[in-house]
This record gives sequence, structure tokens and C-alpha cells, in this order.
Amino acid sequence: MTDATDNADGAREPSRMQANVLLGVSGGIAAYKAVDLASKLTAAGACVQVVMTAAACELVGPPSFEAVTGRAVLTSLWRCDGDRTIRHIDLVDWADIVVVAPATANIIGKTAGGICDNLLSTTLCAAWRKPCLLAPAMNDRMWTNPAVQRNVAAVKAMGFELVGPATGRLACGTQGPGRMAEPAEILAAIRRMLKDAGRGTT
Ligand SMILES: Cc1cc2nc3c(=O)[nH]c(=O)nc-3n(C[C@H](O)[C@H](O)[C@H](O)COP(=O)(O)O)c2cc1C
Repeated sequence: MTDATDNADGAREPSRMQANVLLGVSGGIAAYKAVDLASKLTAAGACVQVVMTAAACELVGPPSFEAVTGRAVLTSLWRCDGDRTIRHIDLVDWADIVVVAPATANIIGKTAGGICDNLLSTTLCAAWRKPCLLAPAMNDRMWTNPAVQRNVAAVKAMGFELVGPATGRLACGTQGPGRMAEPAEILAAIRRMLKDAGRGTT
């Protein structure tokens, strides 16, 4: 399996990503960048299903994700639009990889603690044996909080991978660690994880 193919001009271009990507979006200010990530994943050939928390919906409208992925955003454990499936389990079965970008301090803590109080947290609880990638994003004081660092260590011990956070200018105007990794970097991490798992790219 290769990471790149030659195009008609002989230039190297990334291989197609034939994978089902479950993209969880939690309520960080970087949620707007997740629209770009969803767009890049779709352009790369992935089928992207977005799940948003209520806080994420306060920051970015689901139609933005729907426009770039061509799929309805899911926000509820309960509203199944006529289907009778158990949505969180079906989502995990469907996904080749689960990605959360941005991952708030809250969703990392819920995942570490096995808390299942919305569609995203419940899906993450069921997904831990799958390739799962978190892109944390938060204020530097939140990121360096010992409780957050304990939760980060706990999710890593469960097999979750992290990309970022970077150090730089934060939304609140300060400098420090907590900036979400750029969409291109998250995309590269997804490609690597899919390749390691032996699925999803041609
Ligand atoms: C404007 C705004 C921006 C926020 N940005 C972040 C953030 O970048 N990271 C974070 O962990 N929490 C952030 N929060 C707080 C979360 O939205 C809050 O903890 C929420 O309960 C997270 O819920 P969720 O994890 O279910 O999405 C922000 C809140 C507001 C009002």
C-alpha cells in the first residue's frame, strides 16, 4: 500500500482515502477548523460522518459540515429520523477510524471516565478498540490542569492517539500549549493510522 501515486504530470499526489471516517466535533473554538478538515477528508475520497455535541453546534452550524460532506450531521442519541438502529453502535461498526477535532477538555475527561451522556461520548465509549484519534484544543491553563493531564494519560493508555496540541497563539489571545493541530496535520495522522490498521487507502 502506498501513500502517494504519480499523476499524469509525473508529480506525486496523495493516494485516495477509501475509508469511513467518523468525525466527532466537540465545543471548542477551533470547531470552525473542523469544517476544513471535513472538506479535506471528503476531497481525499473519505466518506465522512460528522457527529456534533450541543456545545459544538453553538459554535458552528451543522449545515457547514453537511455542505462539505454531503451527509446529515448527527447530534442526538435519540432522534433517529425513522431508523430503528442503535445509532452509536452502528456508527462504530461503520467507521474505519474515529477522529475528534477539536477535542475539548470535557470530551477527553468523559472518554477517560467512561461517561456516556450524549451521542459523541457514547460512541467514543464503544469505539476504544478501533483506531481513534483526538486533536485536543483548549486554553493553555486548561491543557496544563493536572486533571486534564490525568485524563489525557488515561485515554492514551486505552489506545487513543493524540495529534497536537501545538504551542502558539490561542483564541483567548494568550500564547501557550493548547492550539489544535492544523487540519493538514490531522489528515496526515489519519492517513498514517489507516495505513497502520491496513485499511482505507489505495
Ligand atoms: C466561545 C467558547 C469557546 C470555547 N472553547 C473551548 C475550547 O477551545 N476548548 C475546550 O476544552 N472548551 C472550550 N469551551 C468550553 C466548552 O464548550 C465546554 O466545556 C462544553 O461543556 C464542552 O462540551 P462538549 O465537550 O460536549 O462539546 C468554550 C466555550 C465557549 C463559550
